[in-house]
Amino acid sequence: MTILYILLGIILLVIVVNAVWRLISDRRSIPCPAWLGWMVELDNPIFRNDSAKVIVSHLALQPGWRVLDYGCGPGRLSLPLARALAPQGRVTSLDLQAEMLEKVRAKAQAENLDNIEYVRAEAGQAHLPAGAYDAAILVTVLGELPDAPLALKEIHACLKPGGLLSITEVIADPHFQKQAKVRALAAAAGFAESACFGRPWSYTLNFVK
Ligand SMILES: C[S@@+](CC[C@H](N)C(=O)[O-])C[C@H]1O[C@@H](n2cnc3c(N)ncnc32)[C@H](O)[C@@H]1O
Repeated sequence: MTILYILLGIILLVIVVNAVWRLISDRRSIPCPAWLGWMVELDNPIFRNDSAKVIVSHLALQPGWRVLDYGCGPGRLSLPLARALAPQGRVTSLDLQAEMLEKVRAKAQAENLDNIEYVRAEAGQAHLPAGAYDAAILVTVLGELPDAPLALKEIHACLKPGGLLSITEVIADPHFQKQAKVRALAAAAGFAESACFGRPWSYTLNFVK
């Protein structure tokens, strides 16, 4: 019985922290702190559409592709992307926080993966090469960005013509963005929708340049 109460207490605490974070995030952007990287790396056992394997499967990767993992965090997506694209293809892992990029680098080194490049930058100010990428992914990132329209313009400029933008959102994330908002932001940046996977509370929307 005591264990049940402890479990209920933990669940309640998680719900309260999530709700408070959501409220604060509505007013100011707060990047997911690096010390919570372990939680991001759990690879969401509850929402199937937010698992790295499923997200990567929606990209239909081609050999030699160059893929941008925008807001890569601790590398939950960067690593499987690098594995799938090796040896010719490359991944650019971009994040605001150096600690996140260090986590990606350590994991890549442990696996001898040398096809990842690291960009520490604020979204919208990364000076990425124009027309260079085949695909860009934003997984539970959009809601954290202080200027999402600017970030999407930056991504549009660095994609090749016909390049893929893949945005994944899941409701458990305190920065969750609804499909309607994502569609409006992507359209304003010049993208056309090409596919929608999942459910309104856990989904991937794909767009083309
Ligand atoms: C919730 S994590 C998601 C990580 C990864 N995409 C995943 O799904 O596993 C969001 C990441 O976006 C990064 N981020 C937040 N605001 C940013 C900004 N303005 N510029 C660049 N990265 C940012 C955070 O540092 C954090 O690593």
